[in-house]
Amino acid sequence: MTTSEKKITIAIDGHSSCGKSTVAKSLAKLLSYTYIDSGAMYRAVTLFCMKKELMDEDKVFEQEFESLLNSVKIHFSFDTEKQQYLTWLNNELVEDEIRDIEVSERVSIVSQIGFVREKLVQMQQEMGFNGGIVMDGRDIGTVVFPDAELKIFMTASSEVRAQRRFKELNTKGSSVTLEDIIKNIEKRDYIDQTREISPLKQAHDAVLIDNSFLSREEQLNKILDLVNSKFK
Ligand code: DC
Repeated sequence: MTTSEKKITIAIDGHSSCGKSTVAKSLAKLLSYTYIDSGAMYRAVTLFCMKKELMDEDKVFEQEFESLLNSVKIHFSFDTEKQQYLTWLNNELVEDEIRDIEVSERVSIVSQIGFVREKLVQMQQEMGFNGGIVMDGRDIGTVVFPDAELKIFMTASSEVRAQRRFKELNTKGSSVTLEDIIKNIEKRDYIDQTREISPLKQAHDAVLIDNSFLSREEQLNKILDLVNSKFK
């Protein structure tokens, strides 16, 4: 069977800011698969929670939130002109808003809630029901698609991840220091890895890719080799 006939499920998990989504998007494009950014879904639900005033600075009003969660609809589209994936929340385009610092600061609180994870995992499983999907996140290979044909666990040292983020923010004119970014990355790793429900961990059958010293092309080629090995 060739890659064009059979469509598999590819789960890419790993630490924040290690370039998972960049590689996942390129891979999906090359294979003509659907790409799903599960982090964007957690961000969209967080935005919903904020807009409906279902949380304050660091506390979620869980009862009210749970009763409204079924009204949350999330879908993605692809802007061919900008070559960009777009996230929609209840038919409103929220791609830029969900990347704002206000959402980034609150998303780890919302993504720790059991009923939120249950709902999003169910939505993600429905999206990937027919295979032919590349999904990135923290629990894709362990919880969402434990039977995925290919699982990748991506990482890079916190210094390398911080350097990359520092460069990116610098070109946008930000004055944030490298030390602050390292602290923020290490804090997010800690939260992701130690939360009670679905903590970030490498699935026993995931392939570890440390991309500290790999170019994007090298990473992509490595993963393409792994994809091809699934069809042999
Ligand atoms: O990938 P990201 O940084 O955009 O993810 C945003 C947040 O959502 C991050 O705090 C981790 C959380 N997340 C999660 O808990 N499970 C996932 N499958 C994806 C993201």
